[in-house]
Formats: sequence, structure tokens, C-alpha cells
Amino acid sequence: MRVLVTGGLGYIGSHTCVELLAAGFDVVVLDNLANSALAALDRIEQIAQRSLAFIEGDIRDADLLDSLLDDYEIEAVIHFAGLKAVGEGQQQPMLYHDVNVAGSHVLLSAMERAGVNCFVFSSSATVYGAEADIPYVETSPVNPSNVYGNTKRIVEMMLADLCQPNDSDWSVAVLRYFNPIGAHPSGLIGEDPRGIPNNLMPYIAKVAVGELQELSVFGNDYSTRDGTGVRDYIHVVDLAKGHVEALKFLAKKQGIEVFNLGSGNGYSVLELINAFKDISGVAVPYKFAPRRAGDLPEFYAEPSKALQLMGWKTELDLNHMLADTWHWQKNNPKGYSAE
Ligand code: NAD
Ligand code: UD1
Repeated sequence: MRVLVTGGLGYIGSHTCVELLAAGFDVVVLDNLANSALAALDRIEQIAQRSLAFIEGDIRDADLLDSLLDDYEIEAVIHFAGLKAVGEGQQQPMLYHDVNVAGSHVLLSAMERAGVNCFVFSSSATVYGAEADIPYVETSPVNPSNVYGNTKRIVEMMLADLCQPNDSDWSVAVLRYFNPIGAHPSGLIGEDPRGIPNNLMPYIAKVAVGELQELSVFGNDYSTRDGTGVRDYIHVVDLAKGHVEALKFLAKKQGIEVFNLGSGNGYSVLELINAFKDISGVAVPYKFAPRRAGDLPEFYAEPSKALQLMGWKTELDLNHMLADTWHWQKNNPKGYSAE
């Protein structure tokens, strides 16, 4: 089966390409390199020992999509391409709606024209918002609290609408990721944020290699076991494998299905810092700072639906996540930019 992977050179996309190639899928990547590097392409092929097709281009380019869906005889699409920085989304809402919402609409419309109807969408646990009880179940109320989350929610609604007619032949999996961290165990691909990282794990990794001075822990007065925020961290390789299982699931199923992809376990910021020290031998300097606007105290997944319907669950624990992050960061202190 030949799969189009939009955003396939990014953090989660690159790991997913490796797993798709290993599972025997043919892969075509469309990426405009807005937040990724061409060097990832060689690294993916090096790990997989297989090649893939790469097209540099934008998901909002309808003509390009029409020709590539046709030329490559694409049978399914995994859609990672998008913008994901929460703060940037608050500052530039129209850009986020353009790339994430309008871009998805252009892509789905091109698929409709080409008769390609199998689609896997990168959504986020951020769609649940503050009202949902933890652990989050797929049926928990959805009410995102920021522009980025709204764009994910709108695309989820677009997909539900697309699958709703009686004669719809779409097969759609909406995957709500919890907090992906870690890197491929080879140390060849990993997360390479531009500028100062917004998220905890890449920030810790950059402090550990001396690129940043000190971590700010946002809030130590939450009603959690040590006062710091608790999240459900998931190894990016487990997450990537979830996409392979989603494609296999969709081959047998029409309509739309929503899945949480998380471990079901929560770890606090301090637990992550301490476990990182045990694994790497590096004590990351940190200070307590005020809460970050929009943060929730604690959330984690109820992941059993993915196990029941797709046979997928996480296999790699926090130690693997931290060891593989450290391996990647040590080998590539400047990410892909050294190439
Ligand atoms: P990423 O930024 O590393 O990857 C996104 C890729 O899409 C990049 O390679 C970028 O160059 C490309 N891209 C961006 N705009 C594009 C466009 N208009 N046309 C073509 N390519 C474009 O991000 P990631 O962490 O790999 O996330 C992948 C997806 O998963 C995103 O949709 C993100 O919102 C979602 N997600 C990520 C997380 C996370 O914590 N990383 C959590 C939940 C959901
Ligand atoms: C953030 C986004 C969320 C997105 C997710 C995955 C916000 C408000 N939420 O979630 O929409 O889906 O990333 O990309 O931005 N922390 C620190 N210091 C730091 C960074 C983070 O203490 O420098 C803390 C946070 O307060 C939180 C935890 O670490 O308690 C995890 O933060 P982060 O990695 O940014 O993920 P989320 O907050 O879950």
C-alpha cells in the first residue's frame, strides 16, 4: 500500500515513516520544510534501509496535491503537516486556521477528487480542555482553550461531517496524542525544535547539553502529588507504531473512529527531571516560576480503546523515553542544523 505522509520530515512524521517502511508500506512524503530539515530524509532511509519519495511543497497547493495523489497512486494519507506552537497560535490565529484548518480542507478535497478515502489525522489531547475528568476517555467533553486546540477540534468536526452521509465510503482515524517525547533508539532522528523550545522534554535536553542555562518549572502549587504539572508522556516510537496499526485498522473499517494515544500513566515535571538525572547523570538546574497561562494541573489518557480495537498499546517506559532523548541530543547537540 502506498501512503502519503504530509509533514513526514517533522518530529512524529519522521519516526512514523521509519515504522511504515519497516512494515512494508511504500511512503511518499509531502513537506514544505517549515519546521523540519531535509537531513531527516537521509536519516529515515538510513534507519529503514529503504527509500521513500519526497516532494517539497505545501498542503495548501491543490494542483500539487491533485497531481501527486494521481502520479503516485496514493491509497491512504497520514496528515501530520501543521503548526503546533500554542503561543504562536494565540498571536497569529489566522495563520493557524489557514495552515491547520484550510490546509486540511484543501487536502481532503483533493482526496475526494482522487477517490482516496483512507485518512489518519494528528489530533491532540489538548482538545479535551479543562472540563473533562481525568483520565480522558474518547467520549469526554471536548472544549479546547486555545487557538491551536480549536484548529484541531474544527478538523475533527470536518472529518465527522465527511463520514456522516449514509453512502460515505471514508475510513478515518482521529488520533489524539498525549505528550510525545523520546527519539529513535539509533540516535539518528529526534525532536529538533527551532529556537527556544516550548515543551518540557526538549527544554530539559537543551539545558543538559549546555545550550540553555536553566529550566523554569511552571508552577509548584498545583493540586498534584508534588505540586508540579502531571502529563502522560508517550515514546515517539510507540506513537509512530500507533499510525501503522491505525492504517491496518482502517483497511477493515469504514466511518470515523477517535483514539487516545497515550500510556495511561502521568508523571510530574519534578519526576521527569529526577528520572532524567538517573538516566543521563546530568542534574538539570531548575527554578520554580509562575504557572504558565492555559496549563492544566494534570491529565492522562484512558488508552484502552486503542488496545481493544487496534491491538495497540505503549511498550516503552519513561526510562526508554529519557535514554533515547539523551542519546539523540548528545549525538546531535545542534539537531539537524550541523549538516
Ligand atoms: P513538526 O513541526 O515537527 O512536524 C510538522 C511537519 O509539517 C514539519 O515537517 C513541517 O515542516 C511540516 N509542515 C508545516 N506546515 C506545512 C504545510 N503548510 N505544508 C506542508 N508541510 C508543512 O510537528 P510534530 O511534533 O511532528 O507534530 C505533527 C502533528 O502532530 C502536528 O499536526 C501536531 O499538531 C500534532 N501533534 C503534535 C504533538 C506534539 O507534542 N509534538 C502533540 C499533539 C499533536
Ligand atoms: C503543550 C500545549 C498543548 C500541546 C502539547 C504538546 C500549552 C498550554 N499546551 O502541552 O496544547 O498539545 O504541548 O505539544 O502550551 N513545563 C515546565 N517548563 C517548561 C515547559 C513545560 O515546567 O519549560 C511544564 C508545563 O507547565 C507542564 C509540563 O511541563 O506541566 C509539560 O509541558 P509541555 O511539554 O509544554 O506540554 P503540555 O503543557 O502538556
